[in-house]
Amino acid sequence: MSASKSDYFMNIAVIGAGYVGLVTGACLAELGNNVVCVDIDKRKINKLKQGKVPIYEPGLEEIVRKNLTRKRLAFTTKIEKAVNFGEIIFICVGTPARKDGSADLSYLEKAAEQIAKLAKDNKIVVIKSTVPVLTARKVHKILKQHSKSNVEFYVISNPEFLREGSAVKDFMNPDRIVIGGINKEAIRKVCELYRPFNVPILETTPESAEIIKHASNSFLATKISFINMVANLCEKVNANIKDVALGIGLDKRIGTAFLNAGIGFGGSCFPKDIEAFIKVGEKHRCNFALLKEVIKINVRQRKLFVKKIEDVLYGLENKTIAVLGLAFKPNTDDIRKAPAIEIIRLLLDKGAKIKAYDPKAMDNMRKIFPHIQYCNNPYETLANSDAMVLITEWEEFKKLNFEKVKKIMKQAIIIDGRNYLPHNRLERIGFTYVGVGI
Ligand code: UDX
Repeated sequence: MSASKSDYFMNIAVIGAGYVGLVTGACLAELGNNVVCVDIDKRKINKLKQGKVPIYEPGLEEIVRKNLTRKRLAFTTKIEKAVNFGEIIFICVGTPARKDGSADLSYLEKAAEQIAKLAKDNKIVVIKSTVPVLTARKVHKILKQHSKSNVEFYVISNPEFLREGSAVKDFMNPDRIVIGGINKEAIRKVCELYRPFNVPILETTPESAEIIKHASNSFLATKISFINMVANLCEKVNANIKDVALGIGLDKRIGTAFLNAGIGFGGSCFPKDIEAFIKVGEKHRCNFALLKEVIKINVRQRKLFVKKIEDVLYGLENKTIAVLGLAFKPNTDDIRKAPAIEIIRLLLDKGAKIKAYDPKAMDNMRKIFPHIQYCNNPYETLANSDAMVLITEWEEFKKLNFEKVKKIMKQAIIIDGRNYLPHNRLERIGFTYVGVGI
């Protein structure tokens, strides 16, 4: 981890022990601060008190346990305990999508109300949850409305850019820190908290900070849909999207990251945040038609992929499909908006039989598809299957013994939704290999 420890430690409260809250709390404790995390979910808090992290996130359980033992990290369901412990209070509650795509801020508003009612002295309230622009202003209003007259609140917008699967690493090695606020002393204090990172700290208004988060995720998703659109053309004209993406990305103004073509983006952030950003645009009479197209391309990408499987197998009725990977990306057990869900649904609709395997996400997927066959390892999944369909690029899938795989499958067909497997080697072994844009 690249962050060095600060010599000035603070007492911090974190409201919401979900992905962002847990990583934020654990990492701030790891940096030397004293942190209390609060959540309404009793079961989750009881597990966390024993050092059991309810999500799979590399490195997280280790630092939770370490800091519990050092007594720098504590978990509680009692918000009054947390609020009066922290000089800085991070709000990390969920901002789920409403039916119309806009962000539901009710958990955030409730948290602000509780902070206001419970705080006995001045507080810096940091919003880490992804929120629409002008939320910091709204939170400040709620805090003032419900507070005791002698208590002041300073609201800071400090968006988080961590990725699932590498959240701890991302928190400890950020590209930049964004701190949006009005009160100079509050900004200084939050900057101090991040001083060990030694990376650019951008001080902005709360509104700019809020837009930075939505715009970053929207831009990254746009890159993905853009490359997927180009990949679809590559397929038609015998070009290779991997070469094309590299050729584009080596231009420093573009960059090679986030140009992997495939079955599109999923997860708890991109789909939700782009919809919410479109709604923000609508509210302020800005037409984000570009982002609507980004979503359309993403949805279409799954359908085109299933069509590919159907074409190479000459129909899907009664075909056995070995689905490798269910999580929305590797190194997580998260299946929220995972491409696998829609792809499996489409395959089932067309009469296919599904055998599935994922190193971490099978328990979660069982709740959505209880009746498909879940296997103990990739080989069991592939045995007697008509095709291997790779959905998530887990490292273990690259390490398969493909000679053995060819022997156990009914048909030697691989459809690779992430362009992840060694294409040329697989063809040499005798597989029919189908990728996306290659
Ligand atoms: C994202 C942002 O990266 C992060 O900064 C923000 O805080 C939360 O949202 P996350 O959703 O964890 O993080 O995953 P990310 O690694 O960004 O991938 C998102 C999706 O895009 C995945 O489904 C991934 O498979 C897909 N993707 C990513 C591509 O299809 N192609 C790419 O080139 C990159």
